[in-house]
Amino acid sequence: LLSAFSSVDCINSSVALQEAGKHVIWSYAGATPPSSLLASIRQGKVAGVIFFKDNIDSNLATHIASLKEANSQSPTKLPLLLMTDQEGGQVRRLAGEPTLSAKQIGSSSDPATEAYEAGQGAAKNLVSNGMNLNLAPVVDVYRVAGDFDDRYGRSFSNDTKVVSVCGQRFVKGQKANGVASTVKHFPGLGAAGANENTDVGPVKIGKGIQELREVDEYPYIAAIAGGVELVMPSWAVYTQVDDRPAGMSPFWITTELRGRLGFQGVTISDAIEAGGLSSYGSDDGKRSLSAISAGMDLILASGRNVSQGEEIVQTIAKAINQGTIDADDFAASTSRISKLRSSL
Ligand SMILES: *[C@@H]1O[C@H](CO)[C@@H](O)[C@H](O)[C@H]1NC(C)=O
Ligand SMILES: *[C@@H]1O[C@H](CO)[C@@H](O)[C@H](O)[C@H]1NC(C)=O
Repeated sequence: LLSAFSSVDCINSSVALQEAGKHVIWSYAGATPPSSLLASIRQGKVAGVIFFKDNIDSNLATHIASLKEANSQSPTKLPLLLMTDQEGGQVRRLAGEPTLSAKQIGSSSDPATEAYEAGQGAAKNLVSNGMNLNLAPVVDVYRVAGDFDDRYGRSFSNDTKVVSVCGQRFVKGQKANGVASTVKHFPGLGAAGANENTDVGPVKIGKGIQELREVDEYPYIAAIAGGVELVMPSWAVYTQVDDRPAGMSPFWITTELRGRLGFQGVTISDAIEAGGLSSYGSDDGKRSLSAISAGMDLILASGRNVSQGEEIVQTIAKAINQGTIDADDFAASTSRISKLRSSL
């Protein structure tokens, strides 16, 4: 009886690890995926991988093929989400399209066409490298020349209508080429100043809800109507509204994004190790549980080491086993992610 019991226990825990893993995007250092990552993929603990410049060399296709080969042995019979930040201009991990920045597109004579072509170019580039998801386009509406979004030309425009058109066209250009899009950083980082970077430290945005809705959230309406697959909430705190970073806030994720705007797709976090989350402690597993309980579907473990992904998956699995994660909400979240994976 005792040994039968412990084998059931063991099955339960490997199932919990697989369920937890469906919510975590992993990263690694260097060009060759480490064997520990391949092993975790085979065990079904990896929903996807984010690539940075140091992961990309002339053998990228071989490396991605080895990730896919490992995934073919996973009990989770779904494609990996293979993603990067291919925004355009200065923010590109892969050489090639889109070469124009969002700012150049938004200020061109035909922003709608240029945005569609940029989305198409980004998607073709990703697909030719074996990827299926872009962490772009940025639909932040910048406020002041040289501010956080404008300094690298990441915002299409300071005019929300232009951002709205460009964001939707970029999404459609990617969708037509089989690549899922991520609009970011909800509800908007356009009002952040030049040195207000949530990767580095806490950022507070003091705009009222009316301006946030009319200016910053406005492009999400067109993106959602255009079928955008993912939304990345920001790690900024919107102080007039509540005291949590948007990605940790049930108000922003559930009430505003899913409720008011009707988004039914997948939410993906910004870097879980970001300096902007310092008030949540330094444990990325605990941070992940806070984000999940606020309604976040995917956790981005972008610290470029495999142990970060492993620790987050272990922490989520433990919470599943202890019943401290809402089972119905988590199941709904898992099914949104699985639907996305099966579509790619
Ligand atoms: C955008 O910037 C331009 C140039 O500085 C300015 O003329 C225009 O009024 C701004 N538009 C908005 C909506 O702030
Ligand atoms: C992995 O990355 C996380 C997030 O940046 C960091 O906290 C952790 O110390 C790193 N671990 C190793 C072994 O490098």
